[in-house]
Amino acid sequence: MNDNLHQLRCFGCGERISGSDARPDFRCAQCGDLFEVEYPGWSQRKGPDRPNPGALKWLWRERRCSSESLDQSGVWRFRELLPILDSFGNAVTLREGNTPLYRLTRTAKALGIDQLFAKHQGMNPTGSFKDTGMTAALTVAKERGFEWVACASTGNTSAAMAAYAARAGLRSLVLIPEGKIAWGKLSQAMDYGAVTCQLKTDFDGCVKVLTEIVNRERIYLLNSVNPYRLEGQKTPAFEIAEAFDWTVPDHLIVPGGNLANSSALGKGFREMRELGLVSRMPRISVIQAEGANPLVRSFAKSQGTALEPVEAHTRATAIRIGNPASWRKAARAIQDTGGWCLDVTETEIAIAKAELGAEGLGCEPASATTLAGLKKLRAEGKVGSGETVVLVLTGHTLKDADYTIDFHRGTLLNEQETAGHNTEIEALRRNAMAVEATPAAVLAAMKGSAG
Ligand code: F0G
Repeated sequence: MNDNLHQLRCFGCGERISGSDARPDFRCAQCGDLFEVEYPGWSQRKGPDRPNPGALKWLWRERRCSSESLDQSGVWRFRELLPILDSFGNAVTLREGNTPLYRLTRTAKALGIDQLFAKHQGMNPTGSFKDTGMTAALTVAKERGFEWVACASTGNTSAAMAAYAARAGLRSLVLIPEGKIAWGKLSQAMDYGAVTCQLKTDFDGCVKVLTEIVNRERIYLLNSVNPYRLEGQKTPAFEIAEAFDWTVPDHLIVPGGNLANSSALGKGFREMRELGLVSRMPRISVIQAEGANPLVRSFAKSQGTALEPVEAHTRATAIRIGNPASWRKAARAIQDTGGWCLDVTETEIAIAKAELGAEGLGCEPASATTLAGLKKLRAEGKVGSGETVVLVLTGHTLKDADYTIDFHRGTLLNEQETAGHNTEIEALRRNAMAVEATPAAVLAAMKGSAG
C-alpha cells in the first residue's frame, strides 16, 4: 500500500489542494478557512486503496503483539487510516496512544448510569492527548525538511511539540501566555530544549504573533490549524471502537478549548462509519468552561453558524481560549452526531476533578469538564441510565499540581464560588496535615479523617 494517499480539502469553500501546496498558516488562499485531510481513494467502493474493514481489525489487533516501534504506537498501529507520510518508516514516535479505558463504577452509581468509562489520554508519553497529533504532524515537518517547528500553546501542545522535535533532532519555538500556564507544562518545554517565549498576552494573542512569524520565516506551524495534527488525534476513536469490539458508545464527552480534539474524534468516528468499521457514531458533546465558552454562545445565538470571540477566563488554563480556530469543525461534529455543547462553572470543574481523583483517576482541570458536563446532561435527561458514556480525560493530574493542592487546602475557590456547595466540597477535601512524629499522633489523624 502507498504510504501517502492524501489531499487537503478546505472546510469552508471545498477547494482541494495537494499537501505540499498548503500555506505556512494552513489557511485557505480562497476563503481563509481551515483544511481537512481527505483520502480520495476511499470513496471508490472497489478501489485498490479502499481499506478492507475485516482485514484491518485483524491486522490492528495483531500489531499489539509486535516489537516494531511503529506497531507499538497507538497512532501508527492504525496507519492504514492515516496515509499522510511519504514513508511510514520516517515516523517520529514515543509510543503514544494505546491509552487505557477505565471503568468508573462509583461515579456511575452516583449518576444512575450503568456504563461509564474514562479514556485517559493523560497517559500519553508527555501526559496529554497532544502526543497523538504531534507524532503525525511533526513527522510531516521532518519529511518536508523543516529545521524549526513552532506553536502557540496553553502548555500541553508545547510540551508535546518540544519532546517530539527533540526526538527528531529539530529545533522548536514555543509561545505561551505569561503566567497563565501550569508549571508542569512549562517545565516540560524547558526539559525538551525548546526556545520558550512567555508573551505578555493571552493564548489568542500568541496565535496572532506566531501566524505572522510563520508567514515570514521557514518555520513549520504545529498548532491544531495544521490538519495533520487531527489525523493523529482521530486515532483514539479507533481505540475506543476496538475496546467496545467495534460497537460504539452512545455518548462521547470532550472538553473544548481550541476545538480541534472534538473535531478530530468526530472525523475518526465518521471515517470508521464510512469505511464500514462501525455502523453508527456516538453523540459527541463538547464542554467548555463558563468563562471561556464561545462555542456555547455560538450555539445559543446562531446554532453554531457564527462565532464571536470572548475574553477568556478560567482556572482550567488548558482551555483558556476565547477565539477557537477549529470551531466550525467542532460544530459539525456536534451537529452530525446529535450531541450538545454546554458550559460548566469553576466550582463544577473543581468538584468533578476531585471526584475523579477519588476514583483513582487524576486528571487536569480541563479534563474534569467532561464529568461536570455529564452531570448536567444526565440531569437534563439527555443521557439515559442504560446508555454507555465515555469521558475523554485529556491531561495528566501532575500537569497542574498547584490546582489540586489549592483545592484540597481550600484556597482554590472564593466564597462566592463555594456558596451552596460547601458540604460537597468538604466531603472531597483531603488536605495534608502537620502531625507530630509519633505513632499515636498519626493513628489519631487517621481515625479523625475516616469516613
Ligand atoms: N484538555 C487539555 C488538557 C488541553 O491541553 C486542551 C488544549 C484541551 C483540553 C482542549 O482541546 O483545544 O483541541 O479543544 N490545549 C491546547 C494547548 C490549546 O495549547 O495545549 P482543544
